[in-house]
Amino acid sequence: MNSHRTTTASAVLVGAGLMKSYGLTRALAGVDVSVSAGESLAIMGPSGSGKSTLLHCLAGIEGPDAGQVLLGGERVDQLGEPHRSELRRTRFGFVFQSGQLLPELPADENVALPLMLGGISRRQAVQKAREWFPPLGLAGMEERRPGQLSGGQAQRVAIARALVGSPQVIFADEPTGALDQITGMEVIDLLVTTTRRQGTALVVVTHDEDVARWCDRTVRVRDGRLSEEARTPDGAAGTNAVAHAARGTAGRPTGHDTDARYDR
Ligand SMILES: Nc1ncnc2c1ncn2[C@@H]1O[C@H](COP(=O)(O)OP(=O)(O)OP(=O)(O)O)[C@@H](O)[C@H]1O
Ligand SMILES: [Mg+2]
Repeated sequence: MNSHRTTTASAVLVGAGLMKSYGLTRALAGVDVSVSAGESLAIMGPSGSGKSTLLHCLAGIEGPDAGQVLLGGERVDQLGEPHRSELRRTRFGFVFQSGQLLPELPADENVALPLMLGGISRRQAVQKAREWFPPLGLAGMEERRPGQLSGGQAQRVAIARALVGSPQVIFADEPTGALDQITGMEVIDLLVTTTRRQGTALVVVTHDEDVARWCDRTVRVRDGRLSEEARTPDGAAGTNAVAHAARGTAGRPTGHDTDARYDR
């Protein structure tokens, strides 16, 4: 109880007593969860257990039937769709499994899109978007169409688009689900380390224990309830052996390594 209070006190996003049913299917049966600035939270659990529903309720994509969602201490679950839509655009970023980029737009304009939707001029938005390409190992890819990018590169463009508006929380539903193991590890490494550096909270739904290990904390959903919570041992998050072994490096990469190893 105490530890829950401590967690929620520093939390940027809190879900409390969340319930959600679809007809007779109870997808969420009373879930309490929170995430702090710069913290990465993995949500795991069997298929159909309610992970995406939980993410959608936290992100204002769907409204819970009962319970509360607080962003920076403010109730957001009761907002109407126009306000929720603005909230998603300005305070949240999203990364999905795949297919989220517009195929007819070059990579830089895909990243600039949320800024342009917010009223920033195309020139300024693209300029700001391009600043994200080198740190995400995408230098030189600015003008490529999504069809000219590898799966891992496309996911890094999607991460840039999620980050470009300086959101408070990034939601990622199976962000590595369409990638091979090594590329997936590189993508989650980048997502966790970049959000940590920006002080952005990260909520990741995943089936992959390796992806969860990369995050600071893991919660498990079963039948719409959180059944388990384990904090990643200090020092283990972001130092997953798989990706580093594959590259022949040890420990957390330096910024220089991070840039170099994506320059393929
Ligand atoms: N829009 C919907 N209409 C009806 N039922 C739904 C809807 N969305 C989810 N459900 C049901 O709610 C339950 C939880 O679904 P949810 O998508 O949250 O599971 P999940 O844990 O994300 O599964 P997966 O790992 O397969 O993505 C499931 O029984 C699902 O069939
Ligand atoms: Mg799902």
